[in-house]
Amino acid sequence: MIIGGSASQALASQVAMELDDKLCSVETKKFPDGERYLRIKDEIPEDEKVIVVQSTGYPQDENMMELFFILDTLNDMNVTDITVVSPYLGYSRQERRFKEVECISAKATAKLIQTMGVKRLISINLHEQSICDLYDIPVDNLSAMPTIAEHIKNTFDVKPVILAPDKGAINFAKEIAMILDTDYDYLEKVRLSPEVVETKTKNISVKDKNVVIIDDIISTGGTIVNAINILKEQGAVAVDVFCVHPVLVNDAVLKINAAGAHSVQGTNTLKSDVSFVSVAKTIANHLKSL
Ligand code: R5P
Repeated sequence: MIIGGSASQALASQVAMELDDKLCSVETKKFPDGERYLRIKDEIPEDEKVIVVQSTGYPQDENMMELFFILDTLNDMNVTDITVVSPYLGYSRQERRFKEVECISAKATAKLIQTMGVKRLISINLHEQSICDLYDIPVDNLSAMPTIAEHIKNTFDVKPVILAPDKGAINFAKEIAMILDTDYDYLEKVRLSPEVVETKTKNISVKDKNVVIIDDIISTGGTIVNAINILKEQGAVAVDVFCVHPVLVNDAVLKINAAGAHSVQGTNTLKSDVSFVSVAKTIANHLKSL
């Protein structure tokens, strides 16, 4: 049985369709003071395997709390075989201490999820693989890159060069490029003199090329706008932008389009105006393989 939290209802429905599984109805509402109410409306046999699909992006605390409410209610129903699919796992960007005595938010949320009788956690392109180590239960960190590559193959006339906006995203670019059999690279900052820093592609020229930029997250859009400006300066013909998690704070899409992007597309790990690529099959296929 699949339970879709409010943040991931459409995706949960797609996963249920892929698996030919039953979707469980959940009633949620907000009281006038902002507190949330949750009720699982269907009967669930105690020995049922239950998959809870809930991304915990903005509003992170509400979505996380709703996930806890679902899990605790399942515990009360004596359901023991619970898998959580959180395609975008909130608080993943604070997975270690950058300054003394900071809260490691990813660890704190891991502790809470684990106390709720969860057997396994599945997510997509976690911000750092090391997040898996914060859990004592198995954590499967799936990749959306094959699905994004497939989407590019089916919708692009010209095979693009795949570019990571920084070295940290190079493996995403490589994974897509390998599938499409095309070139990939990343943007690197080079210090030309004590005063002058230039950012350019590390190994290949993008002159007269169609380029796809890939990153895991687009948040403010600053990283992508910077990359588009550089690629345009270097003579790229068209720049299409892809990400896994379209966090898209404020006017991020507008800024990226204004910088001259040919398109901005993301997956549906988060609901957004650009969530065109579905990760439902990736999740369903993985669940089938377990
Ligand atoms: C950074 O580590 C991530 O991979 C993204 O590059 C970053 O989160 C993007 O943030 P923004 O859109 O605010 O530049």
